[in-house]
Amino acid sequence: METPASPTRLGILLSGRGSNFLAIAQSIRENRLPNVEIAVVISNVAEAPGIASARALGLPTAIHISKGRPRAEHDADMLASLRSHEVDLVILAGYLRLLSPEFIGAFPNRILNIHPSLLPAFPGLEAQHQAFIYGVKFAGCTVHFVDEHLDHGTIILQRVVPVLDTDDGYTLGDRILAEEHIAYSEAIARVASGVYEIQGRRYLKRA
Ligand code: GRF
Repeated sequence: METPASPTRLGILLSGRGSNFLAIAQSIRENRLPNVEIAVVISNVAEAPGIASARALGLPTAIHISKGRPRAEHDADMLASLRSHEVDLVILAGYLRLLSPEFIGAFPNRILNIHPSLLPAFPGLEAQHQAFIYGVKFAGCTVHFVDEHLDHGTIILQRVVPVLDTDDGYTLGDRILAEEHIAYSEAIARVASGVYEIQGRRYLKRA
């Protein structure tokens, strides 16, 4: 009999609400993310609602306050935490702080981020509002690998959200968020399966 592959262990990093983290946790509970488990949820903000949700779910948590600390020093603590929890894949779920090159280098193409726009359009903060004000007809979200540039690494998948005449930045943002909650689990499942290759900037499913 074949031994089942050991589960992919996620380290979730968040700073706020944590709705993407909760959607991932729900996918795992409902067996839509086979052979994936959450090893630890880490926040750089002590009062982040997402960390309270993680505790309520009985998941291992850690807080590493970033405010006022040099980035490299703070990231070294987070790396130690991730390693002690034997994390394979780092998931940025509303983690509002840039990562140091050392941190990114420690997990090459093993850090995922979700961004609420169709990258490369509208990188940075408040992307949903940027898209609305610009007047695009299609917005959406992107899950990508993290590299040393902001909102830039190889794109794993995108989901498109049409912009309605009746929208404002908030209604559009809500519909994008609903798509984010689907997209992130799907992207994690793909990466955890290992059945892909990266050619240049392109992520390709392997047959
Ligand atoms: C999401 O819009 C995500 O795309 C962006 O930060 C927000 C986090 O929301 N990176 P939540 O904390 O997951 O609810």
